[in-house]
Amino acid sequence: MEFKFTQENLDRIEQETKKYPVRKPAVMAALYIGQEQNGFISSEVMKEVAEVLGISSEEVLGVVTFYTMYHQKQMGKYHIQVCTNVSCMLRGGYEIWNQVKEKYGIEHLGVTSDQNFSLEEVECMGSCGTAPMIAVNEDYYENLSKEKVEEILASLKSTN
Ligand code: FES
Repeated sequence: MEFKFTQENLDRIEQETKKYPVRKPAVMAALYIGQEQNGFISSEVMKEVAEVLGISSEEVLGVVTFYTMYHQKQMGKYHIQVCTNVSCMLRGGYEIWNQVKEKYGIEHLGVTSDQNFSLEEVECMGSCGTAPMIAVNEDYYENLSKEKVEEILASLKSTN
């Protein structure tokens, strides 16, 4: 399905490009805006980002596949990322990972059938000093225990 940025989002991307001497570094922001508008990064979103910034599709794809914040398929209303990298792992990251997997009955990059929840095992998210941590959409939750995770998950409201 064809994808075009809204005028408002094109303006936002133009603002981003002004922060740099060349347009290419705005690719991360442009992808983020594309994901926000489309729900995920489709090949059409990548094509549009490449066109708007005047860079190649390969350069865009390289960024999409490198960073865990970009998703190439539709994720749940609540996208839950669990860090299992060293600091988190040493402080119970895998227990939390298993806890969340079991609660929703989904695996890495799985989405519940009602589309409310999706799950992703991620590498370090930069909160090692407050490990273990998870992220739900853009919110970080740190210094977690299994009880705290249960409270966080219980606070997420399904829409259907
Ligand atoms: S290891 Fe989990 S945030 Fe760094």
